Order: sequence, then C-alpha cells, then structure tokens
Amino acid sequence: MENSDSIVTPWEVRGEVDYKELIEKFGVDPLTPDIVERLRRHAGGLHVLLRRGMFFSHRELNEWIDSYEKGVKAVLYTGRGPSGNTHLGHLIPWLFTKYLQDAFKCDLYFQITDDEKFLFNPELSTDQVAEYAKENILDIIAVGFDPERTKIFTNLTYSKPLYNMAVRVAKHVTFSTAKATFGFSESSNIGMIFFPAMQAAPCFIHQYLTSEDAHVLIPCAIDQEPYWRISRDVAPKLGYRKPAGVYSKFIPGLGSGGKMSASIPDTAIFLSDTREEAVRKVKNAFTGGQPTIREQKEKGGNPDVCVVYSYLYSLFDEDDKAVAETYASCKAGGLICGECKERLARKVAEFLEDHRARRERAKGSVEKFLLRE
Ligand code: TYM
Repeated sequence: MENSDSIVTPWEVRGEVDYKELIEKFGVDPLTPDIVERLRRHAGGLHVLLRRGMFFSHRELNEWIDSYEKGVKAVLYTGRGPSGNTHLGHLIPWLFTKYLQDAFKCDLYFQITDDEKFLFNPELSTDQVAEYAKENILDIIAVGFDPERTKIFTNLTYSKPLYNMAVRVAKHVTFSTAKATFGFSESSNIGMIFFPAMQAAPCFIHQYLTSEDAHVLIPCAIDQEPYWRISRDVAPKLGYRKPAGVYSKFIPGLGSGGKMSASIPDTAIFLSDTREEAVRKVKNAFTGGQPTIREQKEKGGNPDVCVVYSYLYSLFDEDDKAVAETYASCKAGGLICGECKERLARKVAEFLEDHRARRERAKGSVEKFLLRE
C-alpha cells in the first residue's frame, strides 16, 4: 500500500502509517470488541497486545474460531525472514502466536524464508542466511512454543514438501497478479517472482502432509498481508479452506517515525543486545518531552507521540492502572522523560536477560522443533 506519505509492503514500511486507512486499502476487518471477547473466553484472559490494540485487524478470525468450536483442526502458521538478528518488533507476532497456541492447543508451522532473504538481498550469501536462520531459530524456541505442537522449517532445507505445494499454488497466480501485488518489475530476478508461492505454501502444508481438513490462522504484522491475498484466492482452487489472519501494528523504532527495523540498528533493540547497549538505546529514544525540565513541568509532555510511552503501553507495562497514571502524569508535567526512560530501560534489560536464559536452554531442544525431509 502506498500513499503520499507512507509505504507498507512486505519489504518496506516507511512514514507515518495510518492503520484505519490500511484496513480499507487491504480490505481487512478491524478487530472488534466482540472478537476480542471470544478470544478472551477461549484463552481465559487477554494478552496485553490485544488489550492495548497492537493487534488491530483480521480476516475471518470469527470463522476460524467457529471451525475450532466445531471440532475442525485449527492450525497456526507464522514465520521469519533470516536477514539478521531478531529484534523486538519480530517478537510481537511470535508472543501473540504463543498465546493463541496455548489457548487453542494448535499445531504451529513456523517458516524460515532463507530463500527469500538470499533472493531479495544482493549482499547475502546462502551461508549467511543459514547462519542467521540458526540464530533466529533459538530466539523462536525461546518464546516458549510447545515442542510437541511446533514445527519449524527453513525453505532451503525442507524444500521437497514445500516445493510440491508451491508449484500447485504458482500455477494459479499470473505474473500480472504477482506484479500488481508485490510490485515486481522487469529487473526482478525470477526467484523473487516465484517466491510468493513459497510463502503461500505453508498455508496448506498441514493438509498436504496429513490429508486432514484444517483451518489455518496466520498471526503476523500487517506488512505480510499481500501474501495471504494470493493464498486465499488460490485456496478454493486447490480444495482447501482460505487461511484466516490476525494482524498487528508495527512497534516503532526508537527514533522519530518509522517501524523498528534492523536497517537502522541504533533505533532497534535486538535480542542479542547487551544490557548496556539496550539501556543506551532507550536513553537516546525520541520522546514527547519539552526541551527543558522547567518547560516539561509547566507545559507537560506529549505521551501520544512518545516512543518510550508507546513501548510501555503496547508491551512492557501490563498494569493498566500504572500505564494510565503514567499517561496522565506526563501530560500534567508530573513526570520527566528521564524517569520514564529509566523505567523502560529496566524493563527491557530484564526482558532481555530472561530471553537470553531461555535462549541458552533452547540450544538443547532445536532438533525437537525442526522439520526435516
Ligand atoms: P520478517 O522476518 O521481516 O518479520 C517477522 C515477523 O515480524 C513482523 N514484524 C514486526 N511486527 C511488529 N513490529 C515491527 N517493527 C515488525 N517488523 C517485523 C513481520 O510482520 C513478521 O510477522 N517474509 C517474512 C517471513 C514469513 C512470515 C510467514 C511472516 C514467512 N512466512 C508467515 C509471517 C507469517 C519476513 O521476512 O518476516
């Protein structure tokens, strides 16, 4: 989706994203209170990402829950493109996927698109993407997915079943559709043009592997949605249910504007950052504060544009009362930016420490999770 000031594609998110406008442009539905309530009933509680509106839109989530309630096999599918170290933004859909897996006891297919990152990035070799894939897989396992129900695979090492599914998809997608959906041009290499079929393939891989009827739900940020448009068009032609989707907003970078992105490392918090690096980045973050403490006290800050507040709000402070107090106190000039940064830095550092410990433990269980030919 492209308008005058923002771009949202699977490869680029730029500018101030208007999520209401995206809902219309992408033809998805807003996540309304009645669906959130259905999720709460099944999960026995609301994930902070739902409560605070980070997950904001969906496609046929009601139908997916209907299927589950009727006893149809409910499956989850999500993924990662291994072009570097994992950052906090990537974690958003994964944390939510774990919540859904726990609530609905689903099998989860986790695709690592090593082929995508090799094909789309002139600087990356197959060895480099394989190395990043190995590192990223440890982060994925560290999220805490159920080892009995989670199947992680990379496209270049689990090719046979995926390629078999991808050619069936590709036969129904014309170049003109791929071009209109993904913006390919005459200079795109032919691997890039085929790749969307590889990302669509896991929408149907459970059915392909087991011959079982299944309804798939894809949790991801909204940038990946174009793939599911193609997958949903093709599904009935292959005799499968259309995959449903549930989509998050982007966690912003620590600078002013734009999503957290590995290409601007100083404004992204990587799960591999040391405590000192993470604290330094938070301390340099963009806030809604006034230029001086005196002005801050007189005029108050603006939490609505503050990145530090947005991190506390969307992920790091689960206490509804505390977060509301932070908002009010900031506006009234009762808080200075240093205090909020301090609080966020502490929470981020604790989170990273816990993650590192879980990641160490994950090293012993990789084989349990990996699908191999
Ligand atoms: P990748 O590796 O770019 O991103 C992994 C997941 O993280 C989401 N994401 C974000 N979410 C919130 N805030 C951010 N700042 C942010 N940045 C990235 C992405 O939407 C994605 O869900 N081609 C895909 C890999 C893939 C995939 C999938 C993703 C293959 N199959 C199925 C989702 C679902 C990619 O390169 O993702």
